Amino acid sequence: MDELALRGLTGQRLFAAAREQVVRHYQWMLRTDFLPRIVDPAIVDDVFTRGRRFFEAPGRGTPHGLHPTMPLEFSVAAYRLGHSMIRDAYQWNRVFTTTGPATLFLLFAFTGTSGNFDPGSALPDLDDPNSGAVDTLPTNWIADFRRLYDFTEADRPDLAPPTADGGNVTKRVDSLLVNPLTRLPAGTFDGRGSEIPEIQRNLAFRNLTRADMVRLAGGQQMAGFLGVPALTEEQILVGDRGASLESLTDAQKAAVTAATPLWLYVLREAEFHGGRLGPVGGRIVAEVFHRAIEGSRTSIVREPSWRPEFGPDARTFRMTDLLLFAFEGKADLLNPLGD
Ligand code: HEM
Repeated sequence: MDELALRGLTGQRLFAAAREQVVRHYQWMLRTDFLPRIVDPAIVDDVFTRGRRFFEAPGRGTPHGLHPTMPLEFSVAAYRLGHSMIRDAYQWNRVFTTTGPATLFLLFAFTGTSGNFDPGSALPDLDDPNSGAVDTLPTNWIADFRRLYDFTEADRPDLAPPTADGGNVTKRVDSLLVNPLTRLPAGTFDGRGSEIPEIQRNLAFRNLTRADMVRLAGGQQMAGFLGVPALTEEQILVGDRGASLESLTDAQKAAVTAATPLWLYVLREAEFHGGRLGPVGGRIVAEVFHRAIEGSRTSIVREPSWRPEFGPDARTFRMTDLLLFAFEGKADLLNPLGD
């Protein structure tokens, strides 16, 4: 608003112009910074330069209207890749470090929908929002963005996290999940106030069961549909530094290689693609993002000549640039609690 006001815009026009610029910059960040980190960059480039080929694509299936939709293959499988990226503890700020620690359960506790704001709580108290003695966030829980993003990538070595405890990167995208995700608080899945069989707290169980409930296509079926080579049986069974399927019986191994649950499939695929989604998972995610951006009221897909103006140059606007812009590039605003 401040920048655009300098150009003479006021009132509703100023607000509309600011909103459009925020949306475009955000979309640029998704396309050039976020997506290539989680999807094979060659797939992202292909989708964004040559267009979609499978999902609400021109000339394919039912004609699509103004409003983008989200296919089940995206929500029930491919985009659940995020579950493998979660850590069991975070360097959150000066006070809550992994030695301190900012555990995943603490992150749950400090939210209204999955916790009770009480730092000492464990399950089953976390299931009840009223079980804690406090009802506000502690003042020392303000995020230190220097620990959560790598500002050295944006030429700001002065904003590197203090070396003693460092920062956090997401876990590699693979078929391994951290243990706290086997025991989710009820609020994370809308289960508050009901009896929950223990297995239903397990996120991997939920993902796999959900796919069964909606009769989701399997990995091999999707590979066929997308016209890409499927992973081999050996790749499915052994993976690359991912989850072990050794304990399965021969019959179970035969079943899982014949029709691999799509979520497991895309994570296995990532193990063979440098920790990024590959031909099946990556194509689904890139096309759905492309469609969502295309259908947005303000859209860099429909305005291909648009370039960012609030980053370091006319091609660059990353998440770190967004944070630098919002916090005026100042360490004490990105990190109010200090080192
Ligand atoms: C601590 C962090 C997270 C927790 C505890 C969590 C938990 C959950 C739970 C409980 C569900 C519902 C499962 C079901 O009943 O089917 C779910 C769904 C989902 N999650 Fe997560 N999740 C987390 C982070 C993420 C991240 C980082 C991503 C993606 C980058 C992600 C993507 C999704 C998607 C796409 C769905 C399906 C939504 C739908 O079908 O409408 N989640 N998650």
